[in-house]
Amino acid sequence: LHYRQARFLISAATLAQCPTDVGAEVAFAGRSNAGKSSAINALTSQKALARTSKTPGRTQLINYFTIGETGRHLVDLPGYGYAKVPDKVKREWQSHLSNYLRNRQSLRGLVLLMDVRHPLSEFDQMMLGWADEAQMPVHILLTKADKLKRGPAAASLQKVRHALKEWEDLVTVQLFSSLKYSGVEQVHAKLDEWLAD
Ligand code: GTP
Ligand code: MG
Repeated sequence: LHYRQARFLISAATLAQCPTDVGAEVAFAGRSNAGKSSAINALTSQKALARTSKTPGRTQLINYFTIGETGRHLVDLPGYGYAKVPDKVKREWQSHLSNYLRNRQSLRGLVLLMDVRHPLSEFDQMMLGWADEAQMPVHILLTKADKLKRGPAAASLQKVRHALKEWEDLVTVQLFSSLKYSGVEQVHAKLDEWLAD
């Protein structure tokens, strides 16, 4: 697929405002500041397709990007676990997310981003649980891999793989760095697999 030709399509405040549930999409989820928007930029070789920020909670809307000319989308989800969000709003967002994973027909897979230095947070495990319930495939990116030396990064990868051993049919894991563009081809291969007809 022609990831470089990705274009912004629409922002939705709620899942009800998302585009008609046709075509194929892959959603990017993860804690605030994990690097979802940066990953979408790296994957599309565009500097500012998705807005990024040092302050967690930058992405507050569900942003849809179209790849190429057909009905294929990448979806940048707001981060979960953002500290300043009131608990009530957090809970609402959580129930929206689990509904989305269960009911969105066009959703082919979930890219779940975790900081390589502290993966598998409570929220990450919750997402994995919902994905499992929905039988939704998950591809985990251990992001900011450039922040660790090769050895510790490999150790983190092994640790996560080991922890998710029982889910290996549905869950794959890799290292990723938006800064260094490392792991981009591996993600493209996964997206190609999911978004093929
Ligand atoms: P929210 O929209 O708040 O949920 O955050 P997000 O997950 O979209 O994170 P975003 O892409 O905005 O990145 C957060 C911060 O991490 C920014 O300061 C990025 O520059 C930085 N960052 C993202 N990816 C990487 C990476 O691979 N390496 C390094 N060193 N920094 C990164
Ligand atoms: Mg973002």
